[in-house]
Amino acid sequence: MSATASYPNYSPGLEGVIAGITTISEIDSDRSSLVYRGIDVHELAEKGSFEETAYLLLFGKLPDRAELAAFRKTLGEERDVPEAVYTTLRSLPKQTHPMDAIRAAYATLAPFDPDYTRNDHDANLRKATRILAKAGTMVANGHRLRMGLDIVKPDPALNTAANFLYVLNGQKPDEFTEKVMDASLTLYAEHGFNASTFACRVTVATLSDIYSGIITGIGTLKGPLHGGANEEAMKMILEIGTPERAEAWIHDALVNKKKVMGFGHREYKKGDSRAGHMTRMAKEIGRRKGNTTYGDIADILERVMLQEKGLHPNVDFPAAYAYYQLGIPIDLYTPIFVISRVSGWSAHAIEQLDNNRLIRPTVIYEGAHNVPFVPIDER
Ligand SMILES: CC(C)(COP(=O)(O)OP(=O)(O)OC[C@H]1O[C@@H](n2cnc3c(N)ncnc32)[C@H](O)[C@@H]1OP(=O)(O)O)[C@@H](O)C(=O)NCCC(=O)NCCS
Repeated sequence: MSATASYPNYSPGLEGVIAGITTISEIDSDRSSLVYRGIDVHELAEKGSFEETAYLLLFGKLPDRAELAAFRKTLGEERDVPEAVYTTLRSLPKQTHPMDAIRAAYATLAPFDPDYTRNDHDANLRKATRILAKAGTMVANGHRLRMGLDIVKPDPALNTAANFLYVLNGQKPDEFTEKVMDASLTLYAEHGFNASTFACRVTVATLSDIYSGIITGIGTLKGPLHGGANEEAMKMILEIGTPERAEAWIHDALVNKKKVMGFGHREYKKGDSRAGHMTRMAKEIGRRKGNTTYGDIADILERVMLQEKGLHPNVDFPAAYAYYQLGIPIDLYTPIFVISRVSGWSAHAIEQLDNNRLIRPTVIYEGAHNVPFVPIDER
């Protein structure tokens, strides 16, 4: 007997349950659209920058020139991290997944924040700005350290996308690469009450601090049903290898009832608004690099998934081969999601705390009743 048949008021996975009110973003499942504070995400990705997007999410409006310049300046000044963070990253076993490394990095960073003991609105905005500024530096240097490379100090003149790529590779990206990374950060920045954002809000709703909310978010994002899907999608594309093998591979996967990573979405049943945008960028990278293999494999998977399962790709699918073609190591794809999503998580943490109520749902008990306690020698 399914839980829903037994309990009409219970929705497994909280599907369709309204768990809050927000002014940060809106997903329109029917129109497959996504807006941040009322502004279409595609306009932000095409005409704006990730910094403008993050400002919009955190402060509730687009910055004017002076506000943007000041925000960029603060981000630049805040990019580096205390030596203790590098010590933590150095001390991790080499096989540590970068999602675990960035979680550990934020845990180390938190007590160094000048607003460590404060949890008011303005202090949290300052903390959010620092959290945002340092993410790319920590992800990229965490990778360098596990590869046995020296750390690269962040460049305060660079934006979030360029600074991440600069620290990662030790050289500044070209204009196209920076633009693609910047737009992908905008597309990943915020997405309603997804699992990691909801988990982040649950954490701060206890009046815990915003860093704890971010760390909760990272732990939740890591799973392959959420942010981890972009890494799994790339492994799948590489396993397929060539467009000629794609059709047989995907039919076989479906016959064997495999979950195909990067497809399907709880909110978008008619397609993920961000996936088309990311696909165009991913294919453009392939064209510029003179290799359309991954885009060609993707086309076949998308066609078969739609025909056979009625499922569309989500943003993680094209993001996977976009980042791969930019030469980024696969296990950094979900941490790149973190570099971006800390803006959305922080906005939600602040919104939650501005009008807080402890989040504490209830549960149906299906266990035994009236079980006598049996003394240990009689069990
Ligand atoms: C995102 C996701 C967790 C949404 O899950 P959900 O709303 O709980 O939907 P369900 O998992 O219940 O899926 C509904 C049906 O579609 C199928 N389905 C959903 N996504 C699928 C996928 N990626 N591959 C194959 N089948 C899939 C399910 O098996 C289920 O079929 P059934 O009714 O025959 O059992 C799910 O689509 C998924 O696991 N996708 C792959 C992971 C991924 O890309 N995550 C990133 C999300 S941005």
